[in-house]
Amino acid sequence: MEKLSKSKKIFNKIYHFLFIERFNKKLNFNFPENFFRWNLIEYLCSRRVFNNYLEIGCDNDELFSKIKIKNKIGVDPVSGGNVKLTSDQFFLSNNKNFDLVFIDGLHEYQQVKKDIINSLKNLNDNGIVLVHDCLPDSISKQAVPRYRMSWNGDVWKAIVELRSLENVEIFTCEVDQGIAVIQNKKNTDKLEIDKNIKDLKFKDFYNNHKKYMRIISKEEFEKKFM
Ligand SMILES: C[S@@+](CC[C@H](N)C(=O)[O-])C[C@H]1O[C@@H](n2cnc3c(N)ncnc32)[C@H](O)[C@@H]1O
Repeated sequence: MEKLSKSKKIFNKIYHFLFIERFNKKLNFNFPENFFRWNLIEYLCSRRVFNNYLEIGCDNDELFSKIKIKNKIGVDPVSGGNVKLTSDQFFLSNNKNFDLVFIDGLHEYQQVKKDIINSLKNLNDNGIVLVHDCLPDSISKQAVPRYRMSWNGDVWKAIVELRSLENVEIFTCEVDQGIAVIQNKKNTDKLEIDKNIKDLKFKDFYNNHKKYMRIISKEEFEKKFM
């Protein structure tokens, strides 16, 4: 993850406070202590046959190194994985399809939306796209531009936007910073909101996160993929 200088952190924080949003309340997500993104993927691998894995954003390979799927591609322009490109550059020339995609690159709404749409286009039948960092608990963790190291960004807005599509089924598992599970199939709980996505603020997320994100527990997730 790109380092932020102290002056950049201060500048971005003041900029955000003055021109974007002020909101102090915090959410209290119930992330299980011993169940992480690799456990969720191991669970899926124990229930389905996955031969082709793509990870967007690999950093120190904390997750990528634990993946036991036969063919794996990790895309990151800076560090980790095995393809040194941005996700956009990768998808421009990619001709492979995947069974499982884990999106964890640039945590900004427009980029995440592109990453999800490109992943869904390159997904095998019954494939699954996972998106990390969907449940920020505070304005500082979701603020764009970023002003702290531990950061979810506004990934959640991409999920909210795609939750209104007819043929994309999405829910968000309350584990490890929030992992959205996305499939190319009929949307059984279409979201309707009366605001433009670009106008959504952390306050809207705070007030509506359960409905917006369709949050389910680890146990509910496990039942769905029994
Ligand atoms: C949070 S880290 C990934 C962590 C990793 N997935 C894990 O679970 O351990 C985010 C990574 O995304 C990379 N990144 C940033 N912009 C990207 C882009 N446009 N395409 C692909 N990766 C990107 C960064 O270089 C950084 O290494």
